[in-house]
Amino acid sequence: MRDSIRIVRRGRIVEIDDIKPTETLLDYLRLRERATGTKEGCNEGDCGACTVVIGEWQDGRVAYRPVNSCIQFLGAMDGKEIVTVEDIAWPDGRLHPVQQAIVDAHGAQCGFCTPGIVMSLFALYHQEGREGPPPRDEIVTALAGNLCRCTGYRPIVDAALAAMAEPPADRFVEAMPQTAGLLQFLADGQDVFIGSNSAFFAAPASLSALAQLVMKYPEATLLAGGTDVGLRVTKGLRPISQVIHVGRVAALRQIEDVGDALILGAGVTYEDAASAFADLDPDLGELIRRLGSRQVRAVGTIGGNIANGSPIGDMPPALIALGATLELAHGEDGRALPLEDYFIAYGKQDRQPGEFVAGLLVPKLMSNQVFRAYKITKRFDEDISAVMGAFRFTIDDGVITEARIAFGGMAATPKRALSAEARLVGAQPGRAASWGAAIEALGEDYAPISDMRASAAYRMETAKALLAKALVECAGAPTSRTRVIGRREAPEAEVA
Ligand SMILES: Cc1cc2nc3c(=O)[nH]c(=O)nc-3n(C[C@H](O)[C@H](O)[C@H](O)COP(=O)(O)OP(=O)(O)OC[C@H]3O[C@@H](n4cnc5c(N)ncnc54)[C@H](O)[C@@H]3O)c2cc1C
Ligand code: FES
Ligand code: FES
Repeated sequence: MRDSIRIVRRGRIVEIDDIKPTETLLDYLRLRERATGTKEGCNEGDCGACTVVIGEWQDGRVAYRPVNSCIQFLGAMDGKEIVTVEDIAWPDGRLHPVQQAIVDAHGAQCGFCTPGIVMSLFALYHQEGREGPPPRDEIVTALAGNLCRCTGYRPIVDAALAAMAEPPADRFVEAMPQTAGLLQFLADGQDVFIGSNSAFFAAPASLSALAQLVMKYPEATLLAGGTDVGLRVTKGLRPISQVIHVGRVAALRQIEDVGDALILGAGVTYEDAASAFADLDPDLGELIRRLGSRQVRAVGTIGGNIANGSPIGDMPPALIALGATLELAHGEDGRALPLEDYFIAYGKQDRQPGEFVAGLLVPKLMSNQVFRAYKITKRFDEDISAVMGAFRFTIDDGVITEARIAFGGMAATPKRALSAEARLVGAQPGRAASWGAAIEALGEDYAPISDMRASAAYRMETAKALLAKALVECAGAPTSRTRVIGRREAPEAEVA
């Protein structure tokens, strides 16, 4: 057992043993290190001013990802390299190619957002396999979590294209063998526990150690990517004294393809799940692309999205429509339940003291099944859903023989539309008259509320429209006509 965390900073191992359970990485950098290049803007993961890059040893390489340091807890950094805007220029003072390009392209005015933008682009600069400039839309996606209020994004995107014209060649490429060695050295497999029984940050390294800790401290807050828990501290100002971080348990970060299903550990991040999910269905890949920002997807987990029980989380409706099964662990024991049964009421989930979410089984689509998922938000990028609808239809000889429909934002929990599902059996997607009753039945399934995201009437109208859209698309309508933007079957040219 270790009572400290160890990180790599500027080529050296730094050991820290005096951490508070919820101390943020941003506070550590600015208040302790006085590395004030990293800025604090919103303090809730939205603006990207606090973006730093973490390096992790993954799949035989050092993977660099941007994170919002304002909502990352310092304890969760154990075993990682932390790179900030102060670190990336050459020792002789020459700017990093990304920094130089921002200067050359006039990509900064007041400069407040600039350190965060530079770090998001630094992560893109080091993206695995990048040799030349990424496509413009990839740069835009990489910057979706960085708000700039005065420069405008065109010069910033131009700078990114210029900086990445060549393969990566900076001091981090030069130092890669050494960094890889340090990160592997830090992966010592030891459990971390810092503090006392009443106030601690714990980061177990194995599933069994995690299970024992959760049983011993059933009131402790479980921490995965921290993109919800972090806000409870920075915005909710909630005191959290006992934190158990699940992120060091390798078994929880596995994705297994078992032929007709995917099995995911609860700690799998959006970024790591993205390609397997996109293979399962393009809409699932698109949903993940639009979830949060790159900083959020780099650390945010699917397990956390389920465990928090939010009625507007994006993954639960999609996974419920796909017929996913949730696995909960309790010590050595476990139980499985249909995902929809986990959500009992607003703020109430079927999780007993001492239990934790261990994983998820997601059936793949059969040849006679089609899936659709639509996320409705005010902003295209980095916005929480007003309504999120997901549909899986089983169609035999042009007739729907089974339907699974789930919505977020329509009830106090993510919820199936059982009445509409029942009325769809026997309907034909190509005959609108055959599914009119199912559309109306959504009124029996849901009684949405009005809030700042949408009115109840808007939500109901939208849910009906989304079900109709899914059916029309299944009947063969080209997605270039049913979608303003997106990446389903529609050829790029039609989408644009
Ligand atoms: C800027 C921003 C944008 C966002 N955009 C979206 C969005 O577009 N769509 C969306 O759905 N969400 C969004 N979110 C919310 C959040 O990113 C997701 O809910 C995310 O999946 C949470 O995962 P996490 O790993 O960060 O969880 P954490 O914050 O670590 O934990 C979330 C909850 O789950 C519990 N928990 C975590 N792991 C376990 C476990 N193994 N067992 C039991 N309980 C556990 C925690 O105790 C906590 O209650 C956004 C958040 C931010 C900050
Ligand atoms: S300060 Fe805005 S994302 Fe962290
Ligand atoms: S340069 Fe001022 S906010 Fe971006």
